[in-house]
Amino acid sequence: MPNEFFVIEGGNRLHGDLRICGAKNAALPAMAASLLCADDVIIENIPEIEDVAIMGQVLATLGATSEWIGNGRLRLNARSIHSFTAPSELIIRNRASFMVMGPLLSRFGEAAACPPGGDIIGQRPIDVHLMGFAALGAEISRQREKYIAKADRLTGCKIFMDYPSHIGTENLLMAATLARGTTVIKNASPEPEVVDLAMMLNKMGARISGAGTNTIIIEGVEELHGTTHRIIPDRLEAGTFAIAAAITDGEVHLQDVECAHMDSLIWKLAEAKVDVKPGDNEMTVRGTGRLEPVNVQALPYPGFATDLQAAFGVLLTRANGVSVIHERVYDSRLLYVSELRKMGARIEVSGQTAVIIGPTHLHGTMVRALDIRSGAALALAGLAASGTTEIADIYHLDRGYQRIEEKLRSLGAKMERVTSSVPPR
Ligand code: EPU
Repeated sequence: MPNEFFVIEGGNRLHGDLRICGAKNAALPAMAASLLCADDVIIENIPEIEDVAIMGQVLATLGATSEWIGNGRLRLNARSIHSFTAPSELIIRNRASFMVMGPLLSRFGEAAACPPGGDIIGQRPIDVHLMGFAALGAEISRQREKYIAKADRLTGCKIFMDYPSHIGTENLLMAATLARGTTVIKNASPEPEVVDLAMMLNKMGARISGAGTNTIIIEGVEELHGTTHRIIPDRLEAGTFAIAAAITDGEVHLQDVECAHMDSLIWKLAEAKVDVKPGDNEMTVRGTGRLEPVNVQALPYPGFATDLQAAFGVLLTRANGVSVIHERVYDSRLLYVSELRKMGARIEVSGQTAVIIGPTHLHGTMVRALDIRSGAALALAGLAASGTTEIADIYHLDRGYQRIEEKLRSLGAKMERVTSSVPPR
């Protein structure tokens, strides 16, 4: 069966302007939130990526409709829901699909789904989701691979999340909007995408305060109505291109970025002696040709984003000295190191810590994308390497980046998508 590969000729400095898409991780919960009412919900600034298509298919199997209405705008309607069971064959394809559980349970009193799939980056339990649903009064049972949650009507309560799970918070936030009484979620995730979801839900008639802090208060309402909502820019896409500019010693001007969401990256880039100029809705990143080694800890927001850890690791292979990365969110998010070593990187891994010895000269070879972000990191490595890099399993990148090769090409990269039944070399 034909596969797609990226073929990259390294060595070109990236230059130019680039518009950043809407955030994948804000688009997906926003789509799930459309299940909470019977009216049209219009979401703007949606990226055209595979995970959005998967969420659209999940909603369709439940009876909802979704329709592109131009310019990244999606019209969703959940008036005629006829199933409360998310299809396992789709749920195992990404983790975000599990977020239909909260809205279905809240509006219809019933929801079922198998444990979600997604990137292989470490243990990814759903205990905080299930514990939260149970605290809100749902009865949780298991039928073969599926979890089934049922309740006549959810009842507001106090929930303490063992871990400030990002989509766990979003699932519970959505569930609590139509609950009877007030819900207080403690140790909630303060990620910007959670704040964006809360803003959208409030526009739909929800009464949510505290989003962006670790205590969120939701006063349940009887029903929600339709709205139009523009989702926030993708800080992870912006971060990927910012690091790409630095890795290639280029200069890239990013538009439609929310720099306030990117403090930890901006700080680390500056510490590594990359020239970063954050502005109002824009950011310019310029490589200075003399990278300093830095230490990075990947942490929940506002800490350094785990999703940019691999790309930053590639950057650090070019720094003049020894850098240390400590991945503290996922227990297996350093697997990309074995691929990077094939390109000449000198990196020692012990548990969740990587010691990167720089500077190294990266050279092109055949590597494999392991997940969305490691795939993007390998593409950046290919841009910096000498010779040709081929990346296999690029469907991972398509889940989270809108035609990444076209964007990088517009900045001067030599990068092609090749369809072949065998690796290009
Ligand atoms: N965790 C638990 N119990 C749970 C849920 C999570 O212990 O019930 C732990 C996990 O084991 C993990 C940590 O919490 O160690 C982080 O998981 P979290 O639940 O916060 O992640 P997520 O919500 O599943 C979202 C993003 C990820 C991003 C993380 C961290 C979406 C769709 N996904 O995942 O994005 O890495 O938050 O910010 O929003 C990506 O975009 O490539 C991606 C993987």
